Amino acid sequence: MSAPAPSAPPAAVPAAAPADVRPLGKVAVLLGGTSAEREVSLMSGNGVLAALRSQGVDAHPFDPAGRDLGELTREGFSRAFIALHGRHGEDGTVQGALELLGIPYTGSGVMASAIALDKVMTKRVWLAEGLPTPRWAVLEAGRQSRSDLRAVPDRLGLPLIVKPPREGSSIGVTKVLGYSQMQDAVSLAARFDPDVLCEEFIDGSELTCAVIGEGSAARALPVVRIEAPAGNYDYEHKYFSEDTGYRCPAGLSAADEAEVQRLTLAAYRTLGCRGWGRADLMQRASDGRLFLLEMNTSPGMTGHSLVPMAARAAGISYEALCLELLRSAALDSTPPPAAAPAPGAA
Ligand SMILES: Nc1ncnc2c1ncn2[C@@H]1O[C@H](COP(=O)(O)OP(=O)(O)O)[C@@H](O)[C@H]1O
Ligand SMILES: [Mg+2]
Repeated sequence: MSAPAPSAPPAAVPAAAPADVRPLGKVAVLLGGTSAEREVSLMSGNGVLAALRSQGVDAHPFDPAGRDLGELTREGFSRAFIALHGRHGEDGTVQGALELLGIPYTGSGVMASAIALDKVMTKRVWLAEGLPTPRWAVLEAGRQSRSDLRAVPDRLGLPLIVKPPREGSSIGVTKVLGYSQMQDAVSLAARFDPDVLCEEFIDGSELTCAVIGEGSAARALPVVRIEAPAGNYDYEHKYFSEDTGYRCPAGLSAADEAEVQRLTLAAYRTLGCRGWGRADLMQRASDGRLFLLEMNTSPGMTGHSLVPMAARAAGISYEALCLELLRSAALDSTPPPAAAPAPGAA
């Protein structure tokens, strides 16, 4: 099946009346930016902008690539929707700047954003909490000897995956089939990061699961299955190909669907995420075991994107999703909505 419409979408939630959105004030949709995922972010941001405006939100595009974030204050913005991906957008830096400016923003705070952008740090946290993630090794780019390079497939087996720890959209990712390909794969990944993540290859199906909310109020959306030609879910197949299939519902057994959602929620909470996020997972064909690959804290919001697809399957329109995320905009110091005062508390 070709992307991205689920077969029988439930009735969409109607858009809010303009009066409801007035308290949201003047909203900046941060889009573009300077990362390698700039083009995707422009697509995401323009989609969000149109959706918010269609519901009467006073939303404006703001591209931090050419502007000082301080202008947000000078121009009277009261909250920000972050539709940036990757570095200087999804990695805690823009979140930190907005903290200093006192402008509530969508998505995770400074620490969770910074950890989640780094796949190695994320795996360390997950491992410490007993959450399943493929076995891995880290190489320091440019400093490894031939025997260091050989040691990785010796340990992780072949094929294996080599990727830059802080990039996204499959940029710099190689599936290494033999020892002789290690050097080129590491050199490619090293164009993006000073260290390189090598990961055990999980042969199986690719799943992704979105979360909306925070803490105990966080909820997982229906799981999406990704079917890329020959299992090759690269940049081209992510954003431009008509050949990549997306299935939502994913066709999992009820038990597997629940397990993917449970793991995703645990992975999200363990990292301290809020607002929304999307975990990428693999399910191994040989034994059905699930492995967490990464947590995206500012997932794509393009027409092909997976969170809007999962939301639709849960009866939430793209417009309603954008509005819900905007309403959840917060600062690190903002208490979560579920944190009601204990009975009898002063
Ligand atoms: N350990 C792995 N085993 C199998 N496939 C993988 C593995 N790691 C990554 N991939 C493939 O590469 C794609 C990109 O990897 P991912 O870790 O999600 O990084 P990003 O999406 O940030 O580029 C995945 O969607 C999947 O198709
Ligand atoms: Mg991914």
